[in-house]
Amino acid sequence: MPIIAVVNQKGGAGKSTIAVHLARWLQQHKKTVMVVDADAQCSSSKWLARLEKNVPCQIIQEPDALLDELPKLIDDYNWVIADGPAALSETTRALVLVADLVIVPCQPTGVDLESASDTVRLIQQAQRIRRGEPKAVMFVNRAVKGTKLKDEAIEVLKLMPNVVVLEDVLHQRQIIADCYGQNATVFDSSGSTAGIARREIEQLFKGALEIVNE
Ligand SMILES: Nc1ncnc2c1ncn2[C@@H]1O[C@H](COP(=O)(O)OP(=O)(O)OP(=O)(O)O)[C@@H](O)[C@H]1O
Ligand SMILES: [Mg+2]
Repeated sequence: MPIIAVVNQKGGAGKSTIAVHLARWLQQHKKTVMVVDADAQCSSSKWLARLEKNVPCQIIQEPDALLDELPKLIDDYNWVIADGPAALSETTRALVLVADLVIVPCQPTGVDLESASDTVRLIQQAQRIRRGEPKAVMFVNRAVKGTKLKDEAIEVLKLMPNVVVLEDVLHQRQIIADCYGQNATVFDSSGSTAGIARREIEQLFKGALEIVNE
């Protein structure tokens, strides 16, 4: 079954937030999931360890170990989700070389958009080696409501070849920012703001997974 790598060399893009939420969302849909934390900060493994619900997670950061171990894990889980580091390192390269789908969250700022093109270049290199694989999807994360930056960012991302850019975005939402400290995800939180965030993030995940199911 598919390996999804969440990558972006830029820190704070939302990689760990997406990896953890995607795992919980798939789990709620009765899928078995293994998260692989490939970032030395270990944000996603620490976050998952504190959740009430058990989400299996392994820390694997060494590039050769990722290339060896990730394909083995897909025999035992419906989905394997890897959380990448904030670097275009050999670790990120290994993730892109082994993934079926790469998800690239990107903040809507000039500096983030510019550095996203380096991540896309790395994806393209893998696609050339692997004859088109991995599929790749980008979306704007932490978009601020009422600003035009979001639409401009989507247009810039669309210029990048060989990646699908989602029209849906994830807005900057306090409930999402609070999740780590609350030992939760929006899928474990109640209340109307959690519900709005849940629907938005679900919409994104459906769009992203459509690409791997095509
Ligand atoms: N849509 C959002 N709304 C509000 N806060 C968000 C959102 N997405 C991410 N954040 C917050 O932004 C910060 C960075 O997110 P996260 O840790 O997921 O990024 P990252 O890409 O994994 O960072 P790093 O590269 O350092 O690993 C966190 O504090 C997280 O709670
Ligand atoms: Mg992270």
